[in-house]
Amino acid sequence: MKIGMLTSGGDCQALNAAMRGVVKGLSNNVDDLEIYGFYNGYKGLIYGNYRLLESKDFSGILTVGGTILGSSRQPFKLMRQPDENGLDKVEAMKSTYYKLNLDCLVILGGNGTQKTANLLREEGLNVIHLPKTIDNDIYGTDVTFGFQSAIDIACEAIDCIHTTAASHNRVFIVEVMGHKVGWLTLYAGVASGADIILLPEIPYDMDKIVDAIEKRHKAGKGFTILAVAEGAISKEDAALSKKELKKKRENYKYPSVSYEIAADIQEKTGTEVRVTVPGHMQRGGSPCPYDRVLCTRLGSAAAKAIMDEDYGNMIAMVNGETTRVPLKDVAGKLKGVNPKCSMIKEAKNIGISFGD
Ligand code: F6P
Repeated sequence: MKIGMLTSGGDCQALNAAMRGVVKGLSNNVDDLEIYGFYNGYKGLIYGNYRLLESKDFSGILTVGGTILGSSRQPFKLMRQPDENGLDKVEAMKSTYYKLNLDCLVILGGNGTQKTANLLREEGLNVIHLPKTIDNDIYGTDVTFGFQSAIDIACEAIDCIHTTAASHNRVFIVEVMGHKVGWLTLYAGVASGADIILLPEIPYDMDKIVDAIEKRHKAGKGFTILAVAEGAISKEDAALSKKELKKKRENYKYPSVSYEIAADIQEKTGTEVRVTVPGHMQRGGSPCPYDRVLCTRLGSAAAKAIMDEDYGNMIAMVNGETTRVPLKDVAGKLKGVNPKCSMIKEAKNIGISFGD
């Protein structure tokens, strides 16, 4: 059996753990196994940059962050466009696959990666996708790997900020990763007792944010913590068309939305505001035990699907069980936070403001 494997898009903590799960699941059951690892995501598949991996490559990597194969972003929308030398990328990927006589490609990645995996499926390749992203925004699985590990880090950052914010009676903003969806901010914010949580899915009203800060001041609390998603957006901006928003942001003077919110709060309340951006720390370091278990299970379930020759699926976790979800049903769909979901209601019920 010949299997190709690649990790694509932004990395996260448990990619190695997932690949180890796949390889252990196969090598335990298949005698004649060859695993080809493609370097730097789809780039390796396009340009034939790969290595035959040995089982020792997968030893000792359960707890290691990053990816032993490297990763890169290869936007889905550019896949059908030739590269700078006129190379047809899709044909190049197919040619590498057929040249190596692969039985299947195991593709680990987020939404964009999944769309390309589905494209390769449509082109006739046998593919299996494993749902990776700290954003937890992949449709069709309850959870993605990387998410829980990233929550731990974002939460730890907010916990640290809590003590300094309290000592100085300041307003603090911690910017959490997530441009399109706010799962990470929501979970890290709730887990660390943030007072205000701003998500891309719930456009904020600056007056409501100011009200929430002033309410805390009146209650004798000198500090306020905001957990703000990278993609948080004001009600005014959310009402603009994509084109209008792009134009408005051409002259944007802040490094990110958190700094804009900080300036507005400072102007409206006179309170000192500080911004902390943990950034890519949230994707780094060792996977948490939850992700190690999740990836071992998803990887093992992927190995079983390969042995069953059941291809074209994402291996998902649904209600605590691994399951095979057809890529054609999920590719291109995004799983955002529903502003009306019970978690938001429960958070509001204990006084957390979402700025709406
Ligand atoms: O998709 C994962 C993610 O970490 C997002 O949360 C974040 O917005 C984005 O990637 C950052 O991308 P890059 O690493 O390319 O700067």
